[in-house]
Amino acid sequence: MITADHEAGGGAVSTGISRRTFTKALIGGSALSLAALDRLSASVYASLDALNQQYLNDPSPDGAYWDALREHYMFQEGLIMMNNGTVGPMPEPVFNTLVKYFKVQCEQPCDVYNTFASRVDGVRENLARFIGASVDEVVLTHNTTEGMNFVAHGLDLEPGDEILMSNMEHPGGINPWKLKAARYGVEIKEVPIGLPPGSVEELVDAFESAITSRTKVISVSHTVFISGLIFPIKELSEMAHRHGVVVLADSAHGLGMLDLDMHDMGVDFFASSPYKWLGAPTGIGLLYVRKEAQERLWPTIATSGWDNTSSASRYETLGQRADALAFAMGEAIDFQNRVGKARIDRRIKTLASHLKGGLAEIPGARLHTSKDCYLSGGLTAFSMAGVDPQQIVDYLRERYNIVVRTIGNEAAGTHGVRVSTHVFVNLEQVDRVLDGVRHLAARA
Ligand SMILES: Cc1ncc(COP(=O)(O)O)c(C=O)c1O
Repeated sequence: MITADHEAGGGAVSTGISRRTFTKALIGGSALSLAALDRLSASVYASLDALNQQYLNDPSPDGAYWDALREHYMFQEGLIMMNNGTVGPMPEPVFNTLVKYFKVQCEQPCDVYNTFASRVDGVRENLARFIGASVDEVVLTHNTTEGMNFVAHGLDLEPGDEILMSNMEHPGGINPWKLKAARYGVEIKEVPIGLPPGSVEELVDAFESAITSRTKVISVSHTVFISGLIFPIKELSEMAHRHGVVVLADSAHGLGMLDLDMHDMGVDFFASSPYKWLGAPTGIGLLYVRKEAQERLWPTIATSGWDNTSSASRYETLGQRADALAFAMGEAIDFQNRVGKARIDRRIKTLASHLKGGLAEIPGARLHTSKDCYLSGGLTAFSMAGVDPQQIVDYLRERYNIVVRTIGNEAAGTHGVRVSTHVFVNLEQVDRVLDGVRHLAARA
């Protein structure tokens, strides 16, 4: 018989599969009890703790550590997940927590009223610690797009006031401002950035040169979805604040990919989607609002609390929500904390550097992402002379079951392939991407 407990302290590398099978059997049957879900998660953490013991004091553990960790993610066996855009995979304890609290809601709806609110406060504290913020600066939204909208619609701006953004923003970051422009006559000015960008100074100087006396906001991607650039938001914010301009960062991919520290970054507003890299379920998001910026930001939605709450939770007085999503996000944070966010950041960048180094040696390959680890993270974009990006995507899927995606567009000169290198990917799998690209390049 397979039990969850028998795996707890044992060989971490080989035990995940049977636990996964066990989880699936449980979900399929009527034996899905709250205690069983807790036991399943506890066994994952026990095996992670055992794994950590083996790698104690190793800030940069080798492949075996990460291969063992991958066993706790729930994506299909054999699938090589190298696209964290839209939605990334969830670790098992996140799924267990999600199911658990929806089940609690079914079986004891009174608990939603009695205990869920204080539990959500706990998640907010956990999240604040995780991102280097104070708890009164954290807003639980549904996604990045909502956070971007809350800021665009919550700031008082006059007709003719200017918003600066780059030429590589996501529709979820552009359209809130387009709506504001249509309704209130603010002006959007685009600042071009290179592919790949040159340096921190080049990026910050480009924005500084575009500032006029009418500029009020810089709204820019922290994780640029087209190029994989990690925008130097700290330096940008320092510069912007010297000019009295506030900064809104769209970091849809940042949470769970990078070792974030809001106070160090100094940004005013920061929106993220924890279901891309953190492993949370869809439907829960983060908006950070710096304490000093809260005086300037109106809530966009309101029920009681919007006018007499002193913390950023006044921006989320939206009535009932699916609290199970928040609890599952808290679990995703606990899971990453077990590994260590600095270690995760470093591993992701190691994999990306390996990919970039290999691409640089393939004749005809053009890297759209900076090689500088300060200006890049887990997203790597590239194009290949004479090869349609879609062909690369299709070939990698058919040949190796590797999932990557096309990105950008031809007219803008940004069309390419984008590869995500999260911790559940290994160096051999990155090599397979390189093999595939080399094969197609040779035929071009
Ligand atoms: C940079 C960026 N901004 C915003 C979004 C929109 O994210 P969401 O649909 O989670 O709100 C994405 C989605 O991938 C993105 O990459």
